[in-house]
Formats: sequence, structure tokens, C-alpha cells
Amino acid sequence: MNITILGGGGFLGRKIAERLAASGKLGGRAVASLVLFDLAPPAPLEAAFPVHCIGGDIAALPAEAVPEGTDVVFHLAAVVSAAAEADYDLGRRVNLRGIDAVVDICRALARPPRVVFTSSVASFSGGQSAHLADDARQLPANSYGAQKAAAELILSDASRRGFLDAVNLRLPTIAIRPGAPNKAASSFISSMLREPLLGLATTLPVDEDFRVWIASPAHAVAWLLHSAEIDTASLGADRSITPPGLSASVGAMLDAMEQVRPGTRALVTAAPDPVVADIVGSWPASFAAARAPGLGYIRHGGLVALVEEFIARDLQATRALRNL
Ligand SMILES: NC(=O)c1ccc[n+]([C@@H]2O[C@H](COP(=O)([O-])OP(=O)(O)OC[C@H]3O[C@@H](n4cnc5c(N)ncnc54)[C@H](O)[C@@H]3O)[C@@H](O)[C@H]2O)c1
Repeated sequence: MNITILGGGGFLGRKIAERLAASGKLGGRAVASLVLFDLAPPAPLEAAFPVHCIGGDIAALPAEAVPEGTDVVFHLAAVVSAAAEADYDLGRRVNLRGIDAVVDICRALARPPRVVFTSSVASFSGGQSAHLADDARQLPANSYGAQKAAAELILSDASRRGFLDAVNLRLPTIAIRPGAPNKAASSFISSMLREPLLGLATTLPVDEDFRVWIASPAHAVAWLLHSAEIDTASLGADRSITPPGLSASVGAMLDAMEQVRPGTRALVTAAPDPVVADIVGSWPASFAAARAPGLGYIRHGGLVALVEEFIARDLQATRALRNL
């Protein structure tokens, strides 16, 4: 299989690439080549197949990023939530013009590739009291969410036309994110666990009973890889899937951390931030996600497993990255 990851230098893009390099396969089929595309050329990756690392702008996607014969495109390149809200022009260019570029490059190919697109919980609103059905209406409360919802429609229509074969995966907030805090409004959801697990103090911008819809990086990667394999004929016109994430309160997440690493909860102090609470507070806290398990998407584990996953897979690398 010939695979391209757009946004291949980012958090989830890199994790997908590492999984492909480790297994050499996607589903039952061997990987023949991999392109990693990002603003700057992604770091080289050791694999049993050729890996091409290319730098450039998604809105002016070069043909070499999605060459003839590409079977699967993971499209993850994006300006994330708070950054897209702070800079409307940048968010619109990358998150919308980038989609146009993906459609155009795919329709130039002889065979339409599978496109796995990372949409987001942020394409919905409803807030803390929401428990949304799979076919709930997308009423985004910020520009990032609007751009994701629009991208879903454009990719679904391009699928109907036979230009490509899209699966739009509406990812929950992914936690625990390794590395350092970023510009996503949801960054605190990872920081409040990651920083104490590193032995560092951190602040909490929302109340402890604030609920979030989350998933671990390993679940996100498993769902993304699965999206490359499913039979899209069974999706009909509805190309968008809400995977079965986890609805949890911030307090329950801190409790799980304390259970795994006693003493860490004391490193978290309250520091209300109305801007963050406004953005993240508009996202639904829970989804029914009734369709995905029937399509083979694995269900999420509990909070203790989520904390343990970070310790086992990402804590050491994060320490090294931040010289801790
Ligand atoms: N991580 C989450 O919690 C989460 C939740 C829901 C949806 N998503 C979506 O999943 C995808 C991956 O998320 P992530 O956490 O890995 O984000 P990330 O920011 O780590 O990765 C996104 C990548 O896109 C690249 N990019 C930005 N502008 C670009 C441009 N003009 N041209 C080329 N590349 C560009 C960035 O350099 C970055 O490496 C994104 O589309 C994001 O919106 C993420």
C-alpha cells in the first residue's frame, strides 16, 4: 500500500507513521511506501519501506505529496482550535483551502484514494449538558469547528463524485498529549495530567466537575488506521463517524492520576480562564457514538488505563524532549 500522511510531522501524524513503520502493514496489506508531508519536512523515520519526508504548505499541495498510485491519504494537517480562532485568515486558508487542495490532488489520480480526515468534537456545540446522537446537527461555536464541519461536507461530496473515498473521523480531545502545552484551547486537558506526571505544577482553567469527551492517543491511532480499512459502501452518503470516546469529569481524571501516581494531584491548582472555558465549554461533553462499534471501531478503556498508557509510551520521550 502507498500511504501519505498530511500533517505527518504532528502529534497524531507521527504516531500513525511510527505504527506503520513498526508493523510494516496497514490491516492485512504490506506498506510499500510512505510520504510524510508537513510545513517543515518531518524527521526521517526508520522503516522497512521507503519514507519520503516533504515540507510545504497544504494549501499549495505539491503533486509529489500524493503521487500516482496512492491508496490512502491521512489528512491531519490543520491549524488547531485556539490558533484558528485567534487568526481567522490562517485557519481558513489551512483548514479550508487545504481541503480544496486535497480534493484537487486526489481527483487528478487515476484511482480515487481513501482519504481519512480528522474532524473534531469541536464541529458540534451543546456544551456540558449535551449527549449527542450520531446524526446530531453540527452547529459549531468557533471558526475551527466551522472549518471542520465544512470540510466534512466537501469531502463527502467529493466521495459522491468519485474523486476520492472519504472517512471523516470526528475525534474527541486526545489526552494525554506528550511534549509541551500547545495552542489548542483543550491543551489543559493533557497538561493537567502530563505536567504533574512529570513532577511539574500546573493550573486548571475550569471547575473539577467540568466534563470532557476524550480519547487516548493509542485509541485515536487505532481508529484512524481502522478508518483506512473499513468498507465505505456500508456508510452510504454519511461519511462521518463519531468514534466511541470517553466522557469524563476533570475531577475523575485527576483522581485516576492520583491513583496511579500518588501525590500528583497536589501539583494542580485552580486558575479559572474564561476564554478557554468559553471555547471548550461549547463542545459537547458526551456522544452516543452508537454507529462506530458496529463498524468495528474499538471501544475506549477507562481513565486509569489512559494514564498508564501515557506513562508506558510517552512519559520518557516527553522528559527527554523537554530536558527534564
Ligand atoms: N489532538 C486532538 O485533541 C484533536 C482532537 C480533534 C481533532 N484533531 C485533529 O486531528 C488532526 C491532528 O491533530 P494533532 O493533535 O496531531 O495536531 P498537530 O498540530 O500536532 O498536527 C497538525 C500538523 O499540521 C501541520 N500544519 C499546520 N499548518 C500546515 C500547513 N499550512 N501545511 C502543512 N501542514 C500544516 C502542523 O505543522 C502540524 O504538524 C488535526 O487535524 C486536528 O484538528 C485533533
